[in-house]
Amino acid sequence: MSDTLNIKHVLELLEPYDPGLFPDDITERYGIPSAGIVNLSSNENPYPPPEGVIKAVVEALNSTNRYPDPSYRELKEAISKYVKLDAEWVAVGNGSSDMVDLICKTTLSPLDRVVIPVPTYALYMLASMVWEAGISYVETEDSDFTIKAARMQPLLEDAKLVFLGSPNNPTGVRVKEEELEMMLEAKHATFVLDEAYYEFSGKTAVDLLDEHENLIIIRSMSKYFCLAGLRVGYALSNPQIIEGLEKVRLPFNINSLAKTAAVHALQQMEYYKKIGQRIVSERENLRKELERVGLGPLPSEANFLMVRLPEGLDADEFAQKLAAQGVIVRSLKGLLGLTRKCFRVTVGTEDENRKFIQVCEDVLKSI
Ligand SMILES: Cc1ncc(COP(=O)(O)O)c(C=O)c1O
Repeated sequence: MSDTLNIKHVLELLEPYDPGLFPDDITERYGIPSAGIVNLSSNENPYPPPEGVIKAVVEALNSTNRYPDPSYRELKEAISKYVKLDAEWVAVGNGSSDMVDLICKTTLSPLDRVVIPVPTYALYMLASMVWEAGISYVETEDSDFTIKAARMQPLLEDAKLVFLGSPNNPTGVRVKEEELEMMLEAKHATFVLDEAYYEFSGKTAVDLLDEHENLIIIRSMSKYFCLAGLRVGYALSNPQIIEGLEKVRLPFNINSLAKTAAVHALQQMEYYKKIGQRIVSERENLRKELERVGLGPLPSEANFLMVRLPEGLDADEFAQKLAAQGVIVRSLKGLLGLTRKCFRVTVGTEDENRKFIQVCEDVLKSI
């Protein structure tokens, strides 16, 4: 990078976030039309949002000449009702990735220490490194990807911030409450518990917020609530931390369509419960089917599975062979903290899962 450009030097060390292959890439590469592509790569919900949400968003299009309410009071109140906490315990953002970024902005200074168990969601590293923090990684592969307080403890001593996925992406493993409580004893550190996939596990640490001032829970409306394309996420913590997040968030960080969709989605819980249960039951079918065809899915509490490949197979090559047949999964080759050869697959609709399994069988036979 040229010395004359006023760009942070740390950016020389960073790679942009890699979102993996998207359907347009497959059409361009293999000439497969979008209708023939099964996209199981981004942990999205395979079902559309409920009709009431779509209608409300279409209606809201008439008012896009106006800014949204800058306080997002209605949205915060809807979330507050959903999570059963007062609205001053809620901050909202443009997806939960915005919350990761806002938390780094409010807490980190150069050379601060961030502790991250791996393998995990790459954005925790990227967002921390932009603030020139030092990162300590904690390996979890030898404990079946469970996070152990005893292993974290020595690194927590000088930690400013700790990121914990629960259920974690890509392992699908949740942080056990007793382990979390032990870690939270490191009161000088702020713990971010990322519950982006909470609804698929049904287990949350919200009850710990009252007692632990150093805990922030972040959640996403991209997964369970089918709003990945609109971008809504939120953080739950004590009012002092929430006030800090409110100070650094950009004004109008959630657009009016996304805000409308989120408010209406939270009034349609029956729909979400129905599709949520369907996804969880499909996840277990998919796990059995993957085992039947000779692949190694790990137990998961989310809407995706991490799958181990048989000896001798390369994850990039396997994912590429699936892509050539119109099925997109995420190769986990080269992911920090993961030495096993694995890919991650999102639970799709029954038809999508069937096609995925069929293509896996074909590819396995061909190699
Ligand atoms: C663990 C985890 N957290 C956060 C996110 C970001 O979600 P969003 O910004 O769409 O809310 C993702 C996305 O895949 C994720 O896997």
